[in-house]
Amino acid sequence: MSEKNLESILHESRSFPPNAEFTSKARLKAADLEALTREAAADHEAYWARLAREEIDWHTPFTQTLDESNAPNYRWFTDGTLNVSHNCLDVHLEARGDKTAIIFEAENGDSRTLSYRELTAAVCRLANGLRAQGIQSGDRVVLYMPMTPEAVIAMQACARIGAIHSVVFGGFSAKSLRDRIVDAGAKMVITADGGHRGGQIIALKEATDTALSQECETIEHVVVLRCTGRDINMVEGRDLWWSDVIDGQADQCEPEFVNAEHPLFLLYTSGSTGMPKGIQHSSGGYLLNTKLTSKWVFDLNDDDVFWCTADVGWVTGHSYVAYGPLAAGATIVIYEGAPTYPDGGRFWKICQQYGVTIFYTAPTAIRALMRFGDEVPLSYDLSKLRLLGTVGEPINPEAWMWYHRVIGKERCPIVDTWWQTETGAIMMSPIPGVTATKPGSCTRPIPGIAAAIVDEEGERVEAPNQGGYLVIEKPWPSMLRTIWGDNDRYIETYWEKFNNRYYVAGDSAVCDEEGYYRIMGRIDDVLNVSGHRLGTMEVESALVAHELVVEAAVVGQPHEIKGEAIFAYVVPRGARPVGEDAVAMAKVLRDWVGEELGAIAKPDDIRFADNLPKTRSGKIMRRLLRTIAKGEEITQDTSTLENEAILDQLRGEK
Ligand code: PRX
Repeated sequence: MSEKNLESILHESRSFPPNAEFTSKARLKAADLEALTREAAADHEAYWARLAREEIDWHTPFTQTLDESNAPNYRWFTDGTLNVSHNCLDVHLEARGDKTAIIFEAENGDSRTLSYRELTAAVCRLANGLRAQGIQSGDRVVLYMPMTPEAVIAMQACARIGAIHSVVFGGFSAKSLRDRIVDAGAKMVITADGGHRGGQIIALKEATDTALSQECETIEHVVVLRCTGRDINMVEGRDLWWSDVIDGQADQCEPEFVNAEHPLFLLYTSGSTGMPKGIQHSSGGYLLNTKLTSKWVFDLNDDDVFWCTADVGWVTGHSYVAYGPLAAGATIVIYEGAPTYPDGGRFWKICQQYGVTIFYTAPTAIRALMRFGDEVPLSYDLSKLRLLGTVGEPINPEAWMWYHRVIGKERCPIVDTWWQTETGAIMMSPIPGVTATKPGSCTRPIPGIAAAIVDEEGERVEAPNQGGYLVIEKPWPSMLRTIWGDNDRYIETYWEKFNNRYYVAGDSAVCDEEGYYRIMGRIDDVLNVSGHRLGTMEVESALVAHELVVEAAVVGQPHEIKGEAIFAYVVPRGARPVGEDAVAMAKVLRDWVGEELGAIAKPDDIRFADNLPKTRSGKIMRRLLRTIAKGEEITQDTSTLENEAILDQLRGEK
């Protein structure tokens, strides 16, 4: 975040008290929040134990709450057993079996619904089918699917039989898919004959075939869902249609009761090295925090229609589509398609059509939709909306105010929720109806989450409005357990900086006089492009893998809609291209990165130079590159540069 932004955010003094009508009906009142906060402060473990007993239907109750013997590999509710799918589905059948669990809208406007009973039956059929194909507890199953109810069904079916799912976002390339399959040692891929986005077909099966043609020996079967009806290649003996897998299977399936620590899923996310990390989540702790935050932060009630627009390829689509709201017995909306298809009113049309009451999306989507003008949302009936949320990146006060005024009609509280793939569930957020909100602030930690800001030495920064490292001082149930296959990297990435004293989130933040947090951005080499994490190293490795590239450096550049755009500096092999040649080569490299990583990782801008600016010790001067990417005046010391003329090249001037 630039200093100018920091300035403007720090001078943000608007505060919005909760709406009285909302407060009168809210699930949590100020007194409840105080009581929870007091209870958590008095006895952290007893607090989580009480909630875990109340919220989860345990098969075997736990007797030990927190096991710190292997810290920082903390374990929660260690001797308890449960099944997550049972807790999301079966527990509701008696009281709300006919209640709608999922409302689905396809990009072409088709829609269908599934009641809790129908969803449970569908999950059971697939779970039985997976078992019949030899999938057992602990096996890894990669899902590479479009955003349809079947994605949720597949996740829940894995959970039901104790298989560990690893969802790979459908926008990632064949190579990314392959790397994740190999790292997870997956036995099965579940995919589709294609997905829909922006009027285009996403060729998921073709990408799967390419991935599997590149030394992916662990895969035994590929299950293919029919979505588009197009012709695809089915490999004899390996590929099975979803419909055949469930054919003849019973719509009841005895859940596999697993230990609370049994991994529920892996989800790969970018870090500061080339290879994404397989974030490993647990069953019991994860379920507890996602269910609780669904109730507390989204104030879910039985008549709500909750729409979280995230794809299941991201953690938000795990915690607030596939698990948390179902555990809370809510009705959720799933939409497969682009927010702007066929026009900028699509999201609002869906809200109107299904009477969405709670809407949760990313700042990048808000900024993109804001561009279509107020008339677009104003032409839809959004009167059912009662609560709005954002996640994934800092929201600029302008977008916050637009969301508040035009979408929320100044009546809906906005919950700006801070959390991460690693935290599993929301960590900081207003409690709607209780917490006064301030544009750009995720306000305070939820009860039981011990957030703090510390300086370079790990000392707490007590003075208000002083930036520092955001850390979490105490373990919490839904925290990541490790990085799959690389516990050293887990410790090094999240704990070592301050001698295992705190979980280090990788974000910088400030806290004001009232204890309200504002996230300033990442402190590592991780970019946040449209709310999605991308490592600069990943993009650099993809670029240098091309024969035309000798060296590459990638930095973020502030972008009005995406938050951050990807800016790449490339040293080409041979003569540096200029003019038309540079444009052509940039296109080749952008397409290449698209193939290597996926379209979201394509650099927005590529500059060619004869070499990169380095310090005497050979480190690339990234700060300098960031300054150039922003088009700002260079104030850094450039006297160590071998070749000052390269600055003009980097600026794209020569
Ligand atoms: O930098 C923070 C930003 O997104 C990062 C986590 O990214 P990811 O693991 O992909 O998960 C995104 C969805 C939970 C954080 O380290 N971030 C997330 N939420 C916010 C945010 N930045 C500011 N405000 C938020 N509400």
